Amino acid sequence: MSGFNNIVILTGAGISAESGLNTFRASDGLWENHRVEDICTPEALAANRELVLDFYDQRRAALRTVEPNAGHLALARLDREWRGELLIVTQNVDDLHERAGATRLLHMHGELMSALCEECGGRVPFGGAMLDGTVCGQCGAEDRLRPDVVFFGEMPYGMERIEAALAEADLFVSIGTSGAVYPAAGFVQMARHAEIETLELNLERSAGSGWFDETRLGKASQLVPLWVERMLDI
Ligand code: APR
Repeated sequence: MSGFNNIVILTGAGISAESGLNTFRASDGLWENHRVEDICTPEALAANRELVLDFYDQRRAALRTVEPNAGHLALARLDREWRGELLIVTQNVDDLHERAGATRLLHMHGELMSALCEECGGRVPFGGAMLDGTVCGQCGAEDRLRPDVVFFGEMPYGMERIEAALAEADLFVSIGTSGAVYPAAGFVQMARHAEIETLELNLERSAGSGWFDETRLGKASQLVPLWVERMLDI
């Protein structure tokens, strides 16, 4: 895997699964006992604000009980040691990539540890429980903070930066994502269009597997460190 300079990596819930965080599309089709559309839409927030805030308060609290796994740690090492361009785009709202030490990181679906103010539009660090009441650190508005996560129907963060990175990349790697949700699911097609190499590391074949030059099946905690070692020649 030598000869590459610019890498774009996309991660999904699969990289955090072995840390103990549930993926979205488990066999029962539910996310933590809820239908995704009852939680992850602007309409759900408007109709059932307490339920949605409570749901994300629980997800935020759960972060304190989990740690980065070997997959996150390997990507953080690649981030530290890779001399070329690198961008880790994650769909995950957990903070395990940054806790592992990754810095060239973009949370395209937002972050649990951040809040979005519906009054001023500011994004502010947030580690508590929204149901306990909130004050925006930027504009002072009370109880106007919502989870800073991108709901279905909302625009993901950083699309221009991601598209620019893909246009410059010579390798695209997708890790632990089912390829079910656009626009992230379309990155592999953009990469193919740009004629760059594409690699998928996932537990099972995904909706997009057919688009990749190569798919390696297995656990992220095993596949990712092996791939990183090869990239760093160690
Ligand atoms: N190692 C590697 N891959 C794994 C592991 C593991 N240990 N465990 C599960 N996987 C794979 C599954 O096989 C599946 O293909 O990770 C993928 C997880 O898929 P999803 O649950 O659909 O998660 P993701 O692709 O991140 O979802 C995308 O959907 O609901 C939205 O906004 C939410 O960001 C999320 C988006």
